[in-house]
Amino acid sequence: MGGKVTFTTRPRERLEEIYDREEEIKQLVELLKKNEWVALLGSRMSGKTSLAKAVSHSLDSRVVYVDLIKSKNLLDVLTRIYQAMPLDVISRIKENFSFIELGPVKVKIKQKITPKIEELIKSLCDKRTILILDEIQDIKSGINHLIPVFHRLLNTCPNLSIIFTGSEIGLMKTLLEQKGEQPLAGRNPVKITLKPWDYETAKEYLKLGLEECGVAYSDKEIQGALSILGTLVGWLNFYGVNRCVKPHEDALKESLEEAISIALSELKNAADKKWKIKALKLMSTGATWSELLEKSRVSTETLSNFLDKLERLYIIEKVEKNYVISDPVYKRAALRL
Ligand SMILES: Nc1ncnc2c1ncn2[C@@H]1O[C@H](COP(=O)(O)OP(=O)(O)OP(=O)(O)O)[C@@H](O)[C@H]1O
Ligand SMILES: [Mg+2]
Repeated sequence: MGGKVTFTTRPRERLEEIYDREEEIKQLVELLKKNEWVALLGSRMSGKTSLAKAVSHSLDSRVVYVDLIKSKNLLDVLTRIYQAMPLDVISRIKENFSFIELGPVKVKIKQKITPKIEELIKSLCDKRTILILDEIQDIKSGINHLIPVFHRLLNTCPNLSIIFTGSEIGLMKTLLEQKGEQPLAGRNPVKITLKPWDYETAKEYLKLGLEECGVAYSDKEIQGALSILGTLVGWLNFYGVNRCVKPHEDALKESLEEAISIALSELKNAADKKWKIKALKLMSTGATWSELLEKSRVSTETLSNFLDKLERLYIIEKVEKNYVISDPVYKRAALRL
């Protein structure tokens, strides 16, 4: 998609703004047309929110986008879904939800929240709707109450598709690996994974964007930016937004710092023990299984679980015999742990 590239640090809303991703767009369109449920997976800054929004808006459906990042509990989830509802739906249902205005003090009884969430989402069943639940993995407590809700919605609300976004490990843990087996009655959402671009695609993207904002760039600068930032679309937009108004060196420095701070917070979440930090530092240049085992001094099972988690967070990959942090920004961030 998209011949014209305009850099921005915000998620994209329209299909014309999405560069590349033809295959993923096609898959998502097909699934949504059939009202299937989808899990849109990928690392931080890989373009999950953009793809979910842009594709949904291109279809002939009502779209409700809910940002669940750092949601605290089910009342918070209910409130966020309510606030995301279109006005015509709100005017139809508002009497039943007036208690939301009262805030958390008055609404204490947790058990009552779940049926309200179900009722609220059900108010969307009257016509074709795509509900985007962005970063659902962030719901810290009460998610297990929601699984039966999703299960019933799948069976009773044929007009509704849900797109869940997150990283594989977060999303799968939250949604699909709840105790009580087969949480969604075996009808797991279809997974679509967003990978970083290949070098050529990323290069073309940067060039088109810089031409669009009328900057005189050199090939050497583009190579420099790609070797420092890698090919993850979010990092490239940080650079592009800066580069459109600043010289290359400044733009690169600033976008790198911005990117490292995001990567660092992800790594800190994943590495809560000293041995994990040590292992991550080793993997910034690549390390074999036996090296990691020797230096981290944990059991094979513990190490294997950690590596598995990092792989499912898209932080590391196995290249031949080496475990290595794939993204150059994450490599630098690991050395700052
Ligand atoms: N296909 C694309 N073409 C052009 N720009 C894109 C594309 N996908 C994402 N972007 C840009 O990359 C940045 C990150 O995108 P987005 O917020 O959608 O990613 P994300 O995976 O949801 O990130 P986060 O982990 O922060 O939630 C944004 O600036 C967005 O505009
Ligand atoms: Mg996002």
